[in-house]
Amino acid sequence: MSEGKTDTGAGKDDKALLRVHDRELELNVLHGTMGPDAVDVRNLYRQAGVFTFDVGFTSTASCESKITFIDGEKGMLLYRGYPIEQLARYGDYLETCYLLLYGDLPTQDERARFEHEITRHTMVHEQISSFFRGFRRDAHPMAIMVAVVGALSAFYHDSTDINDPYQREVATRRIIAKVPTLAAMAYKYSLGQPFIYPRNDLDYASNFMRMCFAVPTEDYHVNPILARALDRIFILHADHEQNASTSTVRLAGSSGANPFACIASGIACLWGPAHGGANEAALKMLMEIGTPERIPEYIARAKDRNDPFRLMGFGHRVYKNYDPRARIMQQIAQEVLAEVGDPNDPLLEVARRLEEMALKDEYFIERGLYPNIDFYSGITLRALGFPTDMFTVLFAIARTVGWVAHWREMIADPQRKIGRPRQLYTGPTLRDYVPMTERGTGLSDAVHHRNDPC
Ligand code: SDX
Repeated sequence: MSEGKTDTGAGKDDKALLRVHDRELELNVLHGTMGPDAVDVRNLYRQAGVFTFDVGFTSTASCESKITFIDGEKGMLLYRGYPIEQLARYGDYLETCYLLLYGDLPTQDERARFEHEITRHTMVHEQISSFFRGFRRDAHPMAIMVAVVGALSAFYHDSTDINDPYQREVATRRIIAKVPTLAAMAYKYSLGQPFIYPRNDLDYASNFMRMCFAVPTEDYHVNPILARALDRIFILHADHEQNASTSTVRLAGSSGANPFACIASGIACLWGPAHGGANEAALKMLMEIGTPERIPEYIARAKDRNDPFRLMGFGHRVYKNYDPRARIMQQIAQEVLAEVGDPNDPLLEVARRLEEMALKDEYFIERGLYPNIDFYSGITLRALGFPTDMFTVLFAIARTVGWVAHWREMIADPQRKIGRPRQLYTGPTLRDYVPMTERGTGLSDAVHHRNDPC
């Protein structure tokens, strides 16, 4: 592990030797400032006619980045070098957005100007509200978010030229400012309630809560303790290196697609239950378990290879130690439950006991399976008043700045190339076309084994 080196070029004496098909290749080893070195295989196919094989990219660095660093063994998460624990304790979400986007904490004036810019872009084109009318009222809000965020490229043509730095900046602020408004509209639409316009005198989290929970018939006062809790939850979810949805945004952006379309692709990927959809799935799992007495049954199922059930909110591709965000989320859960008058939410007790039993079980210990950010977030978001199908939408709101920061970094990277992975092909070898008259009759075995409905 090369700690503290600033040179990302190949070290003079750092080479990796690879012997393949009786050829010996010398590959450069690249050093980061923190974390593992990387063997540079960019010329491998040209030099040796072979690919690397890495399903799920468990050992592959897809890019060079300066935004977020994770040490999975130590349970460390840094945004531009600052520990998540300090940012979540002393900072706020818009300051964190500035940090992720521009590389350092803002001065007082920079913070004020940035907040002014974001706040005054929170309204969306009025025509978008009729866009919602096409959805059923029971449409999942993530389905609506994928659609309406992508549709922003149909409304804001003047900020889709990715080669114009000014338009990239305008798109950045529009996306960060408007995603909460669209999310609140998706929620209101599902309730059959009128959309609530954003307010310029409210901070980011308070504005979102008011757009979700206010009604035109009476004043709505944001609870500052709950708004601060939500703001901290946004900080925890803001970025996380090259996770599946961020990698999706980078891959979409590498083709030159406009920023709104790229962020919509990130929302689509985040929806999966193995990724951002796990917060909704984790709460449903805790509700299904219901009582501590039933925990052993579910732990046994999670360990059973023949049972597809997994403990939702547990395990992580990178963290093989406790996800630092999960610890902070557990504290926020307790604060929110106390504030809403439900300090003894039975689900929190089920979650605690489940964590306690799993972390004593060899199966979880030897695989390095710990609670991740999604394990306690569902309990907290439910206590804040959100329905389960809005949990991943909240994750998407927070992660939007991470997606935009990585999109900007990728676009500005002089090494930028369109992402185009190869494959290990194991399909049929070359064969000639067979005329219909020579194919026989009836259904071939392949059809019987298919699950098609016909
Ligand atoms: C997020 O990448 C990110 O950074 C994501 C994220 C972010 O901020 O962007 O952190 C947000 O997505 C958090 C993860 C949320 N997902 C879940 O909580 C769903 C449940 N977790 C698992 O599906 C799983 O742990 C993953 C998907 C998170 C990670 O899967 P990996 O790294 O591909 O690990 P794996 O599936 O190869 O599992 C390794 C072993 C397997 O057992 P064996 O084959 O070795 O016998 O661990 C087992 C798995 O069966 N395992 C679990 C488990 N997670 C892994 N067994 C039971 N319950 C689980 N939750």
